[in-house]
Amino acid sequence: MVRRPASLNRPAFRRPVPPAALTTLPERFTSRLHDERVAAWLGIALGTCFLVAFVTGLVSHFMQHPAGWMVWPSRPVNLYRVTQGLHVMTGLAAVPLLLAKLWTVYPRLLQWPPARSVLHAVERLLVFVLVGGSLFQLVTGVMNIDYWYAFGFFFTTAHYWTAYIVIGALVIHVANEWAKTRRTVMTRPQDGLKRRTFLLTVFGASGVVVATTVGEAVSPLARLAVLAPRRPGIGSQDLPVNKSAAASGVTALARDPRWRLTVTGRVDRELSLSLAQLQAMPARTARLPIACVEGWSAEATWEGVRLRDLLRMAGVDDDAHVRVESLERYGLYRTSMVQPPHWHDPLTLLALRVNGEPLDLDHGYPCRLIAPNRPGVMQTKWVGRLVVA
Ligand code: HEM
Repeated sequence: MVRRPASLNRPAFRRPVPPAALTTLPERFTSRLHDERVAAWLGIALGTCFLVAFVTGLVSHFMQHPAGWMVWPSRPVNLYRVTQGLHVMTGLAAVPLLLAKLWTVYPRLLQWPPARSVLHAVERLLVFVLVGGSLFQLVTGVMNIDYWYAFGFFFTTAHYWTAYIVIGALVIHVANEWAKTRRTVMTRPQDGLKRRTFLLTVFGASGVVVATTVGEAVSPLARLAVLAPRRPGIGSQDLPVNKSAAASGVTALARDPRWRLTVTGRVDRELSLSLAQLQAMPARTARLPIACVEGWSAEATWEGVRLRDLLRMAGVDDDAHVRVESLERYGLYRTSMVQPPHWHDPLTLLALRVNGEPLDLDHGYPCRLIAPNRPGVMQTKWVGRLVVA
């Protein structure tokens, strides 16, 4: 049999490349991996991740800053744990997808002339907003969950407003590219092997990132979570700690034997309880997670006094909103609000013990709030006062 020279076996559609000087930039990139099909599939995966991250991010935002008409339920117990875990996982999965997507389309980003008309210029500007905003979200998001606050701005506010800009630019981009994307993914390619391998590698990389992090929220997978900054089961009393008593400046106040819990209900009724008096009240147990805004979560068995019992002793009205105040003097999270569905819930405790031991100082000794379906930053530690707001 006569063997064909290898050069003749190359696919016929590979156009000969004209000299660089005669080409526009995109034409100089001949790899099939820079084509519409790869860009379309990566775009679909990336868009899905961003949509999930946006919706779950809004859940996190409005749980912490509810609009006047919003009342969050206290059940299901693990709702916030799932939404915020999903938020960070889809955000992390998006990192390899975004890098691959940028590599696939960068010849188009370098297009010359940069714009053919005013409309085209606006369209391209929006793409640059989308690229810049996405990189900003993912880079600062990863830095934040790694507790690396090297940026000089408040992460949450910047992240929140950038999310609207990114999603706005994404919606316009999708509307623009929808017909092309649909056509591309509906047709069967003749020569798909190289693209398939590339896409599988990128999706595999996303999968590896998730598999090596998801254990920070899913306890049975904790040992796999080598990329996670926090892991269930690791920390004092088998629970991770984000902010210690020393870092919060409360060590002396929390250890003071004169500590008392003040509960201000009706103007004419204020309770002041010592630790011994709290310990003498009927003890309740709840198995609840601490679900951190940074995506990690860990379950524990908490023991303490039901918040509703204390508030009723102080004559608090059923529809009251209650402010829980920490001994901390400063800090964004030194107080948190508890709405009726949460303080009526029998699982909401002022915890005195965790996993069978008195609370460690770093977990909020002498007592802390623990409630179902609530971000960790709102599970106030070192509680000194409950006030009807
Ligand atoms: C690697 C990627 C990402 C990571 C690691 C990440 C991480 C986080 C963290 C830690 C928070 C909680 C902040 C706090 O309350 O202290 C958060 C909130 C949020 N995220 Fe992300 N995020 C990522 C990507 C995204 C993306 C792609 C979007 C939307 C396009 C998004 C939208 C939001 C929103 C709207 C919030 C609520 C902000 C607030 O509380 O005001 N995130 N994210």
